[in-house]
Amino acid sequence: MGAAPVLLVGCGRLGAAMLRGWLASKTLKPADVTIMAPRVNAAMQGFAAQGVRVEPAPQWRARTVVLAVKPKVGADALKSALPLLADDAVVVSVMAGVRAASLTPLLKPGQSLARVMPSTGTAHGAGVACLHAEYARARDHAEALFAPIATVIGLEREDDLDAATALCGSGPALVFAQVAALAKGAEALGIAPDLAARMARATLTSAAASVANDPRTLDELIAEVASPGGTTEAGLKVLAGALEPLMKDAVGAAHRRAGELSETS
Ligand SMILES: NC(=O)c1ccc[n+]([C@@H]2O[C@H](COP(=O)([O-])OP(=O)(O)OC[C@H]3O[C@@H](n4cnc5c(N)ncnc54)[C@H](OP(=O)(O)O)[C@@H]3O)[C@@H](O)[C@H]2O)c1
Repeated sequence: MGAAPVLLVGCGRLGAAMLRGWLASKTLKPADVTIMAPRVNAAMQGFAAQGVRVEPAPQWRARTVVLAVKPKVGADALKSALPLLADDAVVVSVMAGVRAASLTPLLKPGQSLARVMPSTGTAHGAGVACLHAEYARARDHAEALFAPIATVIGLEREDDLDAATALCGSGPALVFAQVAALAKGAEALGIAPDLAARMARATLTSAAASVANDPRTLDELIAEVASPGGTTEAGLKVLAGALEPLMKDAVGAAHRRAGELSETS
């Protein structure tokens, strides 16, 4: 079963990123998509210029609903969207921490829910999307929608989505923060800020290409760069013992926050 027609509820940072990815990859055509949001923002104006509807047409029914609003308004937003759902629609919630149990009671018997935790890299067809659904139909439907724009990772346990939120949802920002810190390191050596930022970003792109395409383990990739007694080894010695606990704390804090959102949903 194809995903179209799709109702995108909420078109902020993540909603717009996913839609860019779906349109660029031709997973969806502009005419397949309707956006539902309280006001037309700049991103929506851009999508509307491509042919995406920014308000539902009469009698229009969605086969897929992507719920991309803040967790605290998720249930209300879904309630507003219910009259637009086909009887067998699949609702894909990308909201952090909102338990399936708080949304599924709103659905009709033929409708089902998948929870997906994507990254904004979906805009470039290079996202990560962790997926959990109780029923195979919703799981297969969501996987088909996200596979063209993300590496899809299936999770057996819904609880693991909080860790996915911390790692795959928030993680890109944790990596960007490290790239920014790397640039600061170059600035401390007298490199101009814009040049340092370009160098750091290009370094990330290069490292990401190795991670994506080289089957060796991360330790092997590190060893390839860090020849004994060389410059990389000198830098790694500074990180040793500090980076791992720091990242553990950062991912742990994001995970705790996802858990708090779960408790209030
Ligand atoms: N950003 C990420 O990288 C990321 C990653 C993984 C998961 N998520 C999840 O994705 C969801 C959206 O995050 P975001 O960063 O995209 O937030 P965001 O930029 O604030 O976008 C939310 C959008 O929803 C709109 N909205 C508010 N109430 C609505 C309603 N009742 N119906 C329809 N639209 C409504 C907002 O419009 P106004 O601005 O006009 O209020 C806004 O454009 C969150 O639940 C978050 O946990 C985000």
